[in-house]
Amino acid sequence: MPEHHPAVPLRPWDSPETVSWRRLPMHAVIRPDTVSPALPLDGSWRFQLLPAPEAPLAGRWAEIDVPGCWTVQDFDDIHGVNDLPQYTNIQMPWPELPPRVPAANPTGVFERDLDLPAEWAGRRIVLHIGAAESVLTATFNGTPVGIGKDSHLAGEFDVTDAARPGERNTVRLTVVKWSDATFIEDQDQWWHGGITRPVRLYATDPLHLADVQITADASGGLSVALSVRTTADGGILPSGWTVSGVLENPSGPLEIAADQDFADACTASGRVSDFLGEARLNAAVPGVQPWSAEIPALYDLTVRLHHPDGTLADESRQRIGFRDVKISGTDLLVNGVRVYVRGVNRHDFHPLTGRVVTPDDLRADLNLLKAYGFNAVRTSHYPPDPALLGLTDELGFYVVDEADIESHEHAHEIADDPRYLAAFTDRVSRMALRDKNHPSIIIWSLGNESDYGANHDAAAGWLRRYDPTRPIQYEGAIKDDEGHWDKPQTASDILCPMYASIEAITAHARSGRQTMPLIQCEYSHAMGNSNGTLAEYWQAIESTPGLQGGFIWEFWDHGILQRLDGKDGKAPGRPAGPAADPAAYAGGVTAPGYRWAYGGDFGDTPNDGNFCADGVVFPDRTPKPAMAEHRELAAPVRLELTPDGEVRVTNHQHFRDLSWLTAQWRLEAGGTAPADLPDLAPGASAVIPLPPVAEALATLRVTSADGTLVCTPQLTLRPDDRDLLTRADAVGISSVSPIPLDDDGLLVHPLFASAPTLSVWRAPTDNDRWGGIAERWQAQGLDAVQRKLVSVERRAGRVAVLAEYATDCAGTIRHEQVVTPLVRADGLSGLLIEETAVLPDALTDVPRVGTVFETVPGLTTLDWYGHGPGETYPDRRASDPVGHHRSSVDALFTPYLRPQESGGRNAVRHFALAGPGVAGATIHLDAPRQVSVTRYRAADLAAAAHHDELVPRAACVVHLDAAHRGLGTASCGPDTLPRYLIGPGTYRWSWTLFPA
Ligand code: GAL
Ligand code: MG
Repeated sequence: MPEHHPAVPLRPWDSPETVSWRRLPMHAVIRPDTVSPALPLDGSWRFQLLPAPEAPLAGRWAEIDVPGCWTVQDFDDIHGVNDLPQYTNIQMPWPELPPRVPAANPTGVFERDLDLPAEWAGRRIVLHIGAAESVLTATFNGTPVGIGKDSHLAGEFDVTDAARPGERNTVRLTVVKWSDATFIEDQDQWWHGGITRPVRLYATDPLHLADVQITADASGGLSVALSVRTTADGGILPSGWTVSGVLENPSGPLEIAADQDFADACTASGRVSDFLGEARLNAAVPGVQPWSAEIPALYDLTVRLHHPDGTLADESRQRIGFRDVKISGTDLLVNGVRVYVRGVNRHDFHPLTGRVVTPDDLRADLNLLKAYGFNAVRTSHYPPDPALLGLTDELGFYVVDEADIESHEHAHEIADDPRYLAAFTDRVSRMALRDKNHPSIIIWSLGNESDYGANHDAAAGWLRRYDPTRPIQYEGAIKDDEGHWDKPQTASDILCPMYASIEAITAHARSGRQTMPLIQCEYSHAMGNSNGTLAEYWQAIESTPGLQGGFIWEFWDHGILQRLDGKDGKAPGRPAGPAADPAAYAGGVTAPGYRWAYGGDFGDTPNDGNFCADGVVFPDRTPKPAMAEHRELAAPVRLELTPDGEVRVTNHQHFRDLSWLTAQWRLEAGGTAPADLPDLAPGASAVIPLPPVAEALATLRVTSADGTLVCTPQLTLRPDDRDLLTRADAVGISSVSPIPLDDDGLLVHPLFASAPTLSVWRAPTDNDRWGGIAERWQAQGLDAVQRKLVSVERRAGRVAVLAEYATDCAGTIRHEQVVTPLVRADGLSGLLIEETAVLPDALTDVPRVGTVFETVPGLTTLDWYGHGPGETYPDRRASDPVGHHRSSVDALFTPYLRPQESGGRNAVRHFALAGPGVAGATIHLDAPRQVSVTRYRAADLAAAAHHDELVPRAACVVHLDAAHRGLGTASCGPDTLPRYLIGPGTYRWSWTLFPA
């Protein structure tokens, strides 16, 4: 801590008015090393973790890596603080009221020495700390140089006076974890402590660019506003300084001279300042390629500041894009085009480092999003690592840049609390000051879940004046007291609700009362096996004027890699940390001895459990099946069968042609059918009937130049009109021997280790659980229905088995199984199983109605005809076109962090199970059905809290569902649509079973 004068008991961690002390204004100057040498200070630092900011330092030091979170690193914990990650959503991690913080307040003191080059003498020296949470104080050679807050923006401090060029210098950074600022950083994510972005020193000429603000429009208009300051001569600028610029154009460099009219106007109005230099560069660039997410054209712009003698004082280089953003009525236009916003919410997250991300990580995130059809990112819920924005410019993403304000638990109190006014405007303005020159940013966001108050309007007011080129959004401002979206807006130009239903958004868009573009800031909560009805959202968006898209919640499952220790290798250990063995996870799954930790796993209380595992990718960035669904819904190429039987193809992009794509037809048509040749004499002829036809499908596999799959639109050329027995090649009923049943009337067959019974339950998904649906199922006892044999009736070689399944208080389900022996053309015998279930009226919402059985061990491969290869469900099956697929049984399962129903394949018509040295089986279904083949019983899945607790069975657990409930998104948002619910009534389904 800075050594305070005792009369000024400055405790910056509990004074919200103190947003900073001597922190340099944020800016967007990007200096090349040649002009401004930099000394990176990343690496090993001396470190002590104190139990509280005022605790005394020990005589010895530990070592820790910067950047890094101390919550996940291994270091010598000298003071025994043991500060591990903690996860809470809305609730604060402790009970104090704003702005007070607990006395136990982990405080990291980071210190290191550095040799300052002698050539830096006479230059202005700046200490840059990329990010520290949540209060940073800095001393240089023992002199306090500044204080800053805002865990997700850099702090810069002028250390010129304290620095000793040519000597060894010492920098100390003290980071206090809990502060008044914590109340406005109450985002739904892990709490950490540390310095999370790089630290460096750099030197500039005393005469320097204080900021550069660039405006570049789609028609080539370019305007650069520069501000100039000096630290020499008491801050008085030398008269005669000049600026210049150069734009790299494909046709050659374009020199841009200073705008003399602007300079003259400043002089004429007497606005010229002794200490703040202002200048403009203006150009009309001919023939620019406008920037868009589809064609992210960037141009290199260099601006220079010169001493009065013409020599170079300072320089800033940026990659700029020419583009327009405009709202016209209910449309958000980019370059005049109403673009769809296919967005995702993204946190700075890493399973090993907590929150420290590298440019390679960021590029990998964005490349993956691109490959799955996303074109937009909301930087939930704070300005991201700055490297992300360089990459969104380069790779092409529309960005909603969000300020680091979320006061969720105390939202209402803080939104109007004048003590926090400075913090709101500080955070919003510093974000815009840093990020304004990025073409990818099309919208500013004032923050998240902080109610709505005067502090927001203050921040919005600043922003509107500072950057009139971009709209603002803020979800907290859009609702009136009744929850309607009709009121006039001062703090939001976009109607950006979260988790609004399809019905709500379409009703508003059709109401005639919509005044702004509607783009949901969060929708389709991706927790576990989720994102049901995404297709219906996009049908609504693409067919309803005024609806333009939204941002899926969210990109990451925030599972932190945790070691499992102890004799049994199961005791929860520490975070594996940045130095973890690279073999500790792969394909979304942790290796033995590890798990993906969520809230509570580090002994953290309070916590919000696995609510942080709600992304479209696993913690190691392995895509979840919902990603494939998104990719298909974003298909740039759409197919349609015209009434004349022609195929119409549409380019569904906004700016690009199709030349970046190649495509290949894949045809699915098949089936055989017995044909009887009539008894014809030589030379005779007869008319024979064609058999009923098999289904014929045409799938267009569209890939980009590097072979990446882009979409697979599919057309049904001809539906299947054959009945089940024809499809199964069954030629008749066999009369061999009576069908064997056990004493309970259960079918005995070499395939079954456990006979087919009725199943009306699934291992609750996160949506089922967090949405309160699973609780109802449990109250009704659907997880443990009791089967009672009612009757067995044998008639004409077939057997009818009637059973009743008792629920708790919801009545009895009657279930009949009629089994008929079959024979196939090739002489093999098999079975036809026809089932009927009657659900009583009290069962208004059940997870599934179908058959479950377990096979004998040894079956390892599944071949199927249906949606695939990925996991699909009735309300999430736009991806994975219908066709023939093959997979190992193990690979069918999706390892969601908290085990739940998974591994399903939708619309399966038939499948075969095989294994080395085992008699396999082929099963045909009467209609396209939801099927799952996994190594887990529903009860196994429901009982496990983490994937690593699951013990796979040698058997296959097979579910054939007459009906399977949709997934919806009820963990945070709307449930599935009524058409995907399963209610009371009669369900019939049948299937055949033959040896493979
Ligand atoms: C939103 C919030 C997010 C996250 C999400 C649920 O309300 O803005 O930060 O909490 O819900 O996962
Ligand atoms: Mg929240």
